[in-house]
Amino acid sequence: MSEKGPIIALDFPNLEEVKVFLKHFPEEEKLYVKVGMELYYAVGPEIVRYLKSLGHSIFLDLKLHDIPHTVKATMEVLAKMGIDMTTVHAAGGIEMLKEARQGLGQGTRLIAVTQLTSTSEEEMRQNQNIQTSLLESVRHYTKGAVNAQLDGVVCSAHEVTAIKEVTPEGFICVTPGIRPQGAEVGDQKRVMTPKEAKMIGSDYIVVGRPITQAQNPFEAYQAIKQEWNA
Ligand code: C5P
Repeated sequence: MSEKGPIIALDFPNLEEVKVFLKHFPEEEKLYVKVGMELYYAVGPEIVRYLKSLGHSIFLDLKLHDIPHTVKATMEVLAKMGIDMTTVHAAGGIEMLKEARQGLGQGTRLIAVTQLTSTSEEEMRQNQNIQTSLLESVRHYTKGAVNAQLDGVVCSAHEVTAIKEVTPEGFICVTPGIRPQGAEVGDQKRVMTPKEAKMIGSDYIVVGRPITQAQNPFEAYQAIKQEWNA
């Protein structure tokens, strides 16, 4: 399993742009990268093979949500790809989470998306008709993930403390919405610096644009890593 720390979100539309981006890094620098839906649907399993051939660790963020049988079968496929971590939506229900775990087996980390960080409490009430607080809903879904023996959740860094209160030792929190001091926030609403995220107990931080859009991505990555390791 890869060391805790920054995961670079490879939010690119094709393999060529991934290759151009990775040229900024020395070959011996082994990264932990996130492949999301855009890149995976554009390139297919080839993207995983390519990144693995370079020696990088892979978080395949496909956020599965379907009937338990289908999710289990899909996880069996993903298990063979040699990825390090993948995601399902906790809203799919405990049965789906359990089947996902079964399909994936124990060699790959399985983490749940609770409430997307783009969902506000008001939207949750309106669209999902969940009448508790957003944080309560996140905690509820997290307990489901624990129950189904998942390894962790993706969450806002602002939710980590509340999540760690209801989860066993070793349950991981993977947090996007990270911005180094002074960086452009973009469309992220509530952000935290790498240092703050580590201090509140985040296990992995997912960082996209502050690295992918930097003049010098390797420098930007190193600065974030140093802040995390300080
Ligand atoms: O560029 P930026 O650092 O904002 O990228 C964050 C990455 O994390 C993106 O790939 C985004 O899709 C992902 N993400 C997120 N919020 C979530 C889940 C995933 O920003 N709740």
